[in-house]
Amino acid sequence: MPRQRQFIARGISLILISTFLYSTSFISFPSTLFPSSDVISSTLNHALERRQSPGSPTGTALSTGPTSPLILPSPNVTATGPWSKSILRAKQFTSGLTLPEKINLTTGIDVNGRCVGNSGSIPRLNFAGFCLEDSPLGVRLTDYNSAFPAGINAAMSWDKDLILQRGQAMGAEHRGKGVNVQLGPMMNLGRDAAAGRNWEGFGADPFLAGVASALTIQGIQSQGVIACAKHYIGNEQEHFRSGSGGGENSVSYSSDIDDRTLHEVYAWPFAESIKAGVGSVMCAYNRINGTYACENSKIINGIAKEELDFKGFLLSDWAALESGAASALAGTDMNQPGFIGYGIGPQNEPNPSTANNSFWGEALAQMVANGTVPEWRVDDMVVRIMSAYYEMGQDKDYPAVKYWNFCSFNQLGPTQPGNEHVNVQGNHSILIREIGAKSTVLLKNLNGTLPLNEKKLPRNIAIFGSDAGPNPDGPNGCGDRGCDQGTLAMGWGSGTANFPYLIDPLSAIANWVHENSPDTMIEYVTNDYNYNQVTSLATQADLCMVFANADSGEGYITVDGNAGDRNNLTLWHSGDTLITTASSHCPNTIVVLHTVGPVILEKWIESENVTAVLFAGLPGQESGNSIVDVLSGSVNPSARLPFTIAESAFDYSANVVYSNPTNEIIIHIPYDEALEIDYRHFDANGIVPRFEFGFGLSYTSSATNSSTILSSSLPPTPTSAPVNASLSISGTGPAVTPTGGIGGPTSLYDTAFTISFTIHNTGAFDGDEVAQVYVGFPDGSGEPPKVLRGFEKVWVGKGARCNVQIVLRNKDISIWDVVKQAWVIPSGRFTFFVGASSRDIRMSQSVTVTKLVTLNGP
Ligand code: BGC
Repeated sequence: MPRQRQFIARGISLILISTFLYSTSFISFPSTLFPSSDVISSTLNHALERRQSPGSPTGTALSTGPTSPLILPSPNVTATGPWSKSILRAKQFTSGLTLPEKINLTTGIDVNGRCVGNSGSIPRLNFAGFCLEDSPLGVRLTDYNSAFPAGINAAMSWDKDLILQRGQAMGAEHRGKGVNVQLGPMMNLGRDAAAGRNWEGFGADPFLAGVASALTIQGIQSQGVIACAKHYIGNEQEHFRSGSGGGENSVSYSSDIDDRTLHEVYAWPFAESIKAGVGSVMCAYNRINGTYACENSKIINGIAKEELDFKGFLLSDWAALESGAASALAGTDMNQPGFIGYGIGPQNEPNPSTANNSFWGEALAQMVANGTVPEWRVDDMVVRIMSAYYEMGQDKDYPAVKYWNFCSFNQLGPTQPGNEHVNVQGNHSILIREIGAKSTVLLKNLNGTLPLNEKKLPRNIAIFGSDAGPNPDGPNGCGDRGCDQGTLAMGWGSGTANFPYLIDPLSAIANWVHENSPDTMIEYVTNDYNYNQVTSLATQADLCMVFANADSGEGYITVDGNAGDRNNLTLWHSGDTLITTASSHCPNTIVVLHTVGPVILEKWIESENVTAVLFAGLPGQESGNSIVDVLSGSVNPSARLPFTIAESAFDYSANVVYSNPTNEIIIHIPYDEALEIDYRHFDANGIVPRFEFGFGLSYTSSATNSSTILSSSLPPTPTSAPVNASLSISGTGPAVTPTGGIGGPTSLYDTAFTISFTIHNTGAFDGDEVAQVYVGFPDGSGEPPKVLRGFEKVWVGKGARCNVQIVLRNKDISIWDVVKQAWVIPSGRFTFFVGASSRDIRMSQSVTVTKLVTLNGP
């Protein structure tokens, strides 16, 4: 059926004034990080070979298909680049430690410490060890903390400044509680629209997730807190993830990802995190190409520590280690929470170096003694951990831990320090409210239904849905938010925090309406199934608002039959029926959705009676206030979808694997769609989405869609070029000394093009526009039709124009060459698309690169 899109009043028109600057540099492969004096004994190789398969011979980096070859030995961190001072200090610190003391820093004390993860301590030096705490949206399992909008909302805002501020505020709260390592951000990609933890992360595009991850990390670490990029890698569903409780708890699926897809899609946000200086990375529960993530030397030693020159430490997800030697040799540096598994053996060993309930602990000392794991590997674990500690300045005036997990609201007995109830909220509620509003995507707005005019509010307003009101058990009434009662403001699992309070939409809207229009009747039904009462109120109301949601979370909790991953993409509590019931009797029905990701809207989206739709994600504690800001127009919507909303769940390129009918020991999940996840798949296969990636409306109206390209220029002497001119890039560029660097060769991050254009707001409201740049690669380069490679959110007053510049780095126009094992800029015709979404392209320009450029390589 052809899409009825007339109702979409597009935002702001974009006029391109194009200035293309190009510079190339030829960079050789970074020097190898292998310690030259190391001799890797065949014993060591065999320890890993037995577990890592399939693969090519040790040390071979050639991998084109879904394989993870052995990469040994694990590279020692080198004191180069911005971290060098901290690394030298860490080396000095480590050289003064005994082996048991070193082991204490690498292995956790299980789950009875103050934080969700705690390393051992070094009493001789009065060193308390590390407190590691969830989550990616606030300090978990405590009180007087804030509950921030979820990662998915940060991405929905497309607002770099707000994403950074959110990171800073979360970092400040973790620091205030004495947390050393915040276990976030989460940057798995939303390959499967229904995957349970997508909401913790930043959507289904690697570039967007990369930008959001890097900014979040910068924000967190600006407060001296070590951020943790997780879950490395391919943790794209909850069913069968195993480890500490991924539903079935028996097998770990293997994400089978070819080398190019790994680099260009799934590792991309991690590479950007490492470039941003992240202090720690968490290896995932699942396998990659048949090998457990925390034992996969290709992804840890090879990609993180060699290619990306990661200086910090690699810690395991909780009980994700499945071996001692293999994980140590593959490059894992910290084992959390320490024990072999939940419920297996003692669960509280305060001195890991003597604990025998762990794959490491005392076992690590034995492995060192019998030569299976060389002591330099343990040294490097500690050096990496302490480098991050020094780099964040945690040796200076860092607060001690001030709370106790799992007893947020109680004071423990005299033998255990209790919760000090430190208030770390500051004024973060203001930021939370702002992000909540600026991450609400306006999907539909017929005839200017929104914003509501506070001076002319209707006489009779009816509000429907349990999602409008409070949870009858209270905002924290379900442990780790493991239920779907009342308004949904975060998903469930470890990626949560306790709400200090939760402003529900019903109260916030009622207050706002009452303040502005005291005589307006406001009625509601929060029983999702009382269709008679809904019908009765909807029939009389001038304006109806229906709230509905869809929830998901981590696999150790099952809610309403959903074991972490959603069972489908429909609204919960029969939300579709509630909406159709209300809207069939109420010609002015506004729908507000709080969901963890895409939902199918087809049952009612084209109804004339559904006059406006707001897609509000998981806005955190200020939910009701944020939605009032949007409804009232005090915030003009500027959010954009960080994923595609399809017409049918079958339109997506991948789906959660829910069952294991043949009882496979390892469930292999082939990433056959390769680079084509989300919009890339829709574009490549001509599938019409309901709402495309990058889509979102504004209250301001559209104008003539001009796409005049006024000029383009070439460095070093800018010269005018005719419209649509092809730029030729010849030669290999200046010869430069081979240089690696954190995040890969520095040339990857050099500017390739600067795209300049002007946005003209011809509408009646001030507002933000999110200008998006997509790159179309040359034919034959094997890329999807277009990929996001730049965006900027800009404020434009009504009637005003705003010049925008978006920089494309060499990396942004590169592909991963599996034979060269290097990033290359392919030769041929590139097209740069500038648009208001992935399908609303307002202008484009092509350039031709005449010679392939290798950005690193032998
Ligand atoms: C989750 C991690 C979390 C850890 C500690 C694991 O189950 O996968 O994201 O940080 O638990 O709570």
